[in-house]
Amino acid sequence: MTLTADLGGTVAVVTGASSGLGRHFCRVLAANGATVVAAARRADRLAELAAEQPRVRPEVCDVTSAQDCERLVARAVELGGPHVLVNAAGFGDAQPALETSIENFRRTLEVDLTATFQLSVLAARAMLAAGRGGSIVNIASILGLVGSWPVTQSAYAAAKGGVVNLTRSLGTEWARDGIRVNAIAPGWFPSEQTEAMFADERAMAWLRRNLPVGRPGQVQELDGVLLLLASPASSYLTGQVITVDGGWTAR
Ligand SMILES: NC(=O)c1ccc[n+]([C@@H]2O[C@H](COP(=O)([O-])OP(=O)(O)OC[C@H]3O[C@@H](n4cnc5c(N)ncnc54)[C@H](OP(=O)(O)O)[C@@H]3O)[C@@H](O)[C@H]2O)c1
Repeated sequence: MTLTADLGGTVAVVTGASSGLGRHFCRVLAANGATVVAAARRADRLAELAAEQPRVRPEVCDVTSAQDCERLVARAVELGGPHVLVNAAGFGDAQPALETSIENFRRTLEVDLTATFQLSVLAARAMLAAGRGGSIVNIASILGLVGSWPVTQSAYAAAKGGVVNLTRSLGTEWARDGIRVNAIAPGWFPSEQTEAMFADERAMAWLRRNLPVGRPGQVQELDGVLLLLASPASSYLTGQVITVDGGWTAR
């Protein structure tokens, strides 16, 4: 089933655009008429995406660099936006807490949480300067809602928990400015981050056993929520976290 939305005239910024969910989100938004400023560090991947999708504008950006983030939002302003920001860049190592260095913990927070805050503020300022609102979609995780066990990754879980409550806080703070801030909390989906897990038959058997729907997600199963949040169809929806996890957190 293909879901559609009319995103003509919308300029969307998507981070994490070089692989996995972010790259898929670029394709979906572009296919629905949006001009997409696609951001990540790997220029070759962005160039491939832009060659495939004429509405995609690649922008090399390290989300931990304030200058890069400013340049990214400025690019969207040049194009008449941003109307939508999707914060999908992410990083997380599965390590036991006792073996996690403080550097790793800080790095995880920097990419997953601090950059989400920074880009949200920059996008919101640009939206306000243009005299209109917009929609910010943060990619959180089920691991921002429940503890991560037996796949231990406390830094990632802490960062995503931060994204969840940042979403609620910014959603309420900017509600009267017409800027909606929501999050998608995906369960288990194939991507580079989950590649090793998806290649491990024991891990997959564990997932199938523990997931109420009996299988991991497919990226296109996030399209409906993405298009809902990116479009005016969600005009009265803000500060919310929508979990798309095959029932994982409902157990
Ligand atoms: N897959 C899942 O099951 C799942 C579940 C819940 C939540 N999520 C979240 O979904 C989002 C996308 O992850 P994914 O699963 O699609 O993983 P992925 O394929 O590994 O993608 C991660 C993306 O983040 C970008 N990135 C990482 N560090 C960056 C940095 N410093 N600056 C700019 N970009 C950076 C990477 O691009 P470059 O390396 O080119 O910079 C890449 O495009 C993440 O926020 C992740 O936490 C995924």
